[in-house]
Amino acid sequence: WSQTGHRTVGEIAEQNLNRKTKRVVGELLDGQSLAAVANFGDDIKADKRYAKFSPWHYVNYPADKKYTDVTRSPKGDLIQGILECERKIKDENSSRADKVFYLKMLIHLVGDLHQPMHVGRLEDKGGNDIELKWFGRNTNLHRLWDANLIDDYQMSYTELAVDYPKITKREKKQIQKGTIYDWVEESQDLANEIYGSVTAGERLGYAYRYKYMDVVRNQLQKGGLRLAKVLNELF
Ligand code: ADE
Ligand code: ZN
Ligand code: ZN
Repeated sequence: WSQTGHRTVGEIAEQNLNRKTKRVVGELLDGQSLAAVANFGDDIKADKRYAKFSPWHYVNYPADKKYTDVTRSPKGDLIQGILECERKIKDENSSRADKVFYLKMLIHLVGDLHQPMHVGRLEDKGGNDIELKWFGRNTNLHRLWDANLIDDYQMSYTELAVDYPKITKREKKQIQKGTIYDWVEESQDLANEIYGSVTAGERLGYAYRYKYMDVVRNQLQKGGLRLAKVLNELF
C-alpha cells in the first residue's frame, strides 16, 4: 500500500487494541502511534543493510495452489516475514531494539498481506508488469492498487480509519477469525478477481474507482482489525 494505506491499517488496529497491548506497544514505540510507524518497512528499503527484508513485502505462488502446499522461497516471503516478526517479538532473548524493529515490521507487513496484489503472480511481479492508464497517466496494476485508488481519493488516514463499512462487534470478531494462512488465501482470491478486472494497456478512471473503492476500504478495515488481533495475542 501507499503511505496512507499503511497508516489507515495502523490507525484501525490502534482503535482495537486491548488495554495491556496498548500499554506495551506504546512503551516499545516510545509513545508513537501505530500509524506513525506503519511505513517503517518501506522507509528502510533504500538502505542496503536491510536488503534481506525486501522479499518480506509480498508472496507469489500459483493461483491453483494453497500457500501451505507450496515450497517456501528460501529468500523469505510475506508469510515467513510475519512469522519471523512474531517469533522475534516473543523471544525472551531478543534485545529491546530487535523487538522494536520487528514490531514496526509486523505492523507494516500485516498491511501488505491485505493488499491483494502483494499476493499476485510471479510472472508479472504482482501486477507491476501490467501497464495501464489511470485518468490519462501511466501506471500499472500493482501501483493502481498500492497507491492510485487510495491516494487520488484525497482522504486522510484518519478519515479512512472510521468504521466503514459500519459493522457490529460480532462482524468484527468474524473478520478477526482465522490465521494468516486463511488471510493470504483470501487476498489471493481477490488478486485473481483483480487480474480479471483489467486488460493490459486499458484506460481506467471513475468507473473503476467506483467499482473497487469499497473493496480497498474493506481490505484496509480487515487489515487493521487483524493486526489488532495479532498484537493482542502477542502482548
Ligand atoms: N513487488 C515487487 N515484486 C513483486 C512481486 N513479485 N509480487 C508482488 N509485489 C512485488
Ligand atoms: Zn511494503
Ligand atoms: Zn506494493
